[in-house]
Amino acid sequence: MSNQTEPGRLIVVSNRLPVVLQKRKKKPMEYTVKPASGGLVTAFVPVLKKRGGLWIGWPGTYFEEGVDLQKFLRENQPDPDYLLSPVEITLQEYEHYYKGFANEVLWPLFHNLTSYCNFFPEYYEAYKRVNQRFSQTLLEDLRENDFVWVQDYHLIPVAKYLREEKVGNSLGFFLHIPFPPAETFQRLPNRSEIIEALLAYDLVGFQTPGDRQNFLEVVGLLHAGVTISDETLQVASIRTKERIFRAGVFPISIDFDEFSEEAKVPDVTEWVKMIREEYRGKTLLLGIDRLDYTKGIPERLRAYRLLLEENPELHGKVVLFQVMVPSRGDIGKYANFKDEIERLIGEINGCFSRLGWVPIQYSYRSLSRKELLAYYQAAEIALVTPLKDGMNLVAKEYCVAHNDEEGVLILSEFAGSICQLKEQAILVNPFDENSIAQAIKKALDLDPNEKRERMRMLRENIRRFDIYWWVDTFLGQAVPTLRNGKDSDESGEGDKRLCAK
Ligand code: UDP
Ligand code: G6P
Repeated sequence: MSNQTEPGRLIVVSNRLPVVLQKRKKKPMEYTVKPASGGLVTAFVPVLKKRGGLWIGWPGTYFEEGVDLQKFLRENQPDPDYLLSPVEITLQEYEHYYKGFANEVLWPLFHNLTSYCNFFPEYYEAYKRVNQRFSQTLLEDLRENDFVWVQDYHLIPVAKYLREEKVGNSLGFFLHIPFPPAETFQRLPNRSEIIEALLAYDLVGFQTPGDRQNFLEVVGLLHAGVTISDETLQVASIRTKERIFRAGVFPISIDFDEFSEEAKVPDVTEWVKMIREEYRGKTLLLGIDRLDYTKGIPERLRAYRLLLEENPELHGKVVLFQVMVPSRGDIGKYANFKDEIERLIGEINGCFSRLGWVPIQYSYRSLSRKELLAYYQAAEIALVTPLKDGMNLVAKEYCVAHNDEEGVLILSEFAGSICQLKEQAILVNPFDENSIAQAIKKALDLDPNEKRERMRMLRENIRRFDIYWWVDTFLGQAVPTLRNGKDSDESGEGDKRLCAK
């Protein structure tokens, strides 16, 4: 570790870099660099662009003898505002660390879907090994005053390995996915090690008060004599026998201004016109999700079928456009799930389609940003109905894209965003098809003034707690000198509304 006394930098550590390297076909040692997608990337890129620093992560390729990816990335840095540092993993580590422990153990377990878990011991071994490599890569570049901010469930043990190397830097962690209830978490064979690893950070952030409460409960169960300061504070202090650390609630968001402005550019408005023309005389409902079993897609489709069965007057008058972004397709559960959804869409369309009307349009691909913004605006109703979700940025993006204050958000009670958006969204239990069908009916019949007022308030809330608020508030708590300078609070009290249950 270098020993300089210059001001500290922000070091972001996440499984994925904000770019994906792809091998060029038939050119073994050559790569293309493309921007990556996903909630985490959408959230962080604007912040690092503004702030500068270093991002450490996996570049999306496997280790190859004779290829210096570090050098390649430094020479092909897609953005001059911040540096990228790659962590290389082998194909077998990808299988066991990423597909295995991260996505066949922690992902389903933390989303409370334990029947999807495969607790294979070799998965955990690879998870530890890759996490150790992330810490080593970080150590090579770490300076005395740097603040390290580790992201998400793939990398929980990074701080533990850094502490073993006597790193005294301030270390933060943010969990983008839910933290499960104690009864679920306790099923994890490595539960004590995972909790110990989280305790090595100085500040651990959660999306919602419920996630933090679940975490504190588990800490209490696994540690005798834990004392917790006031849990109504945005950031609570926790004293175990060994140390004091803090756990806070920091709901992630998006860059409101950028998103809202981009929605107005002529290319996008042109697209909006085309989509509206395509669906003239029909109300467009929109579902946009990564293809993931947590997103409640089959339940939503069945609810839509129920709506059509019970309301024949809607035939020819509504269209559901469902986008599924390809994701984790090499994990068995995901591949099977795609088949299940496609069968269901086929059944519904087969049953109801008639001349001039197909009730579900479906797209299995990633949309361009402009298309995404256009569909958000053209859709009168968004269906965001995950069975469980850390936050769900699609819900926020949909509202922000609606500069016209039109549009209705139907939102699952089990999405993290419910904590902020519950007053103005139409809430549904995503396991209850009837509840979703009724919510769609309610959205279709909503008084135009009420609709606008709801959307205005949703947007106001998201504008206030935007991505810069998220970063500033976390950094304000972790290392006040690194803040952006926008409003934030260092007392620990924070905004109590965020902790209201
Ligand atoms: N998204 C994307 N391409 C698409 C559709 C969506 O990049 O074709 C983005 C979307 O803008 C959002 C993110 O993917 O920022 C999804 O984030 P969310 O929190 O809703 O769910 P996650 O996929 O992270 O579970
Ligand atoms: C969620 C996770 C992120 C992850 C993203 C895409 O948002 O919280 O950490 O990057 O999904 O998933 P993937 O497995 O493709 O990285």
